[in-house]
Amino acid sequence: MNLSEYIRNVENFPKEGVHFKDITPLLANKDAVSFCLQQLVAMVGDSKIDKVVGIESRGFFFGTLLAQKLNAGFVPIRKPGKLPYSTLKEPYQLEYGMDALEIHEDAIKKRERVLLHDDVLATGGTARAACNLIEKLGGEIVQCNFLIELEFLNGIKKLQNHPVKSLLKY
Ligand code: PRP
Ligand code: MG
Repeated sequence: MNLSEYIRNVENFPKEGVHFKDITPLLANKDAVSFCLQQLVAMVGDSKIDKVVGIESRGFFFGTLLAQKLNAGFVPIRKPGKLPYSTLKEPYQLEYGMDALEIHEDAIKKRERVLLHDDVLATGGTARAACNLIEKLGGEIVQCNFLIELEFLNGIKKLQNHPVKSLLKY
């Protein structure tokens, strides 16, 4: 199956000059979702994973599915003000703007083996901030795992000390 056939390119969204990769056609197709999930699991290999961390919001779709398949717990990293309990906060620069991410302070225990998942690696600011949060809690990042990597934005540079794997590269 060619997964890229299920990714829709939208020009100038959410602002002028941004080429948006829309994964909703993929999500709407059950066979594409199961194929994609199988490929994402294969990227992890035999590594034992305690927690899969997904980044709000598009990292939640496959993040929870991956956690189930890997027999791991799921931890959400969310935009500010969304998590109800005590949080750690990390500001970051986005491809289009500035934002921050938060995680519950008890979401990951020291030395737990963590898989970070998001839909897209673009400039890497989001994933870097997520890695910082995981590491501040003492988690060990086994892999940063993406559906799509926009190689021309060189986001991998911001994740230099971690293994990065992506299903589709543009
Ligand atoms: C998008 C995408 C990644 C992030 C990648 O999320 O889903 O999380 O940007 O960008 P970066 O590598 O340049 O940091 P966005 O913040 O648009 O929010 P969403 O997932 O809620 O749509
Ligand atoms: Mg996102």
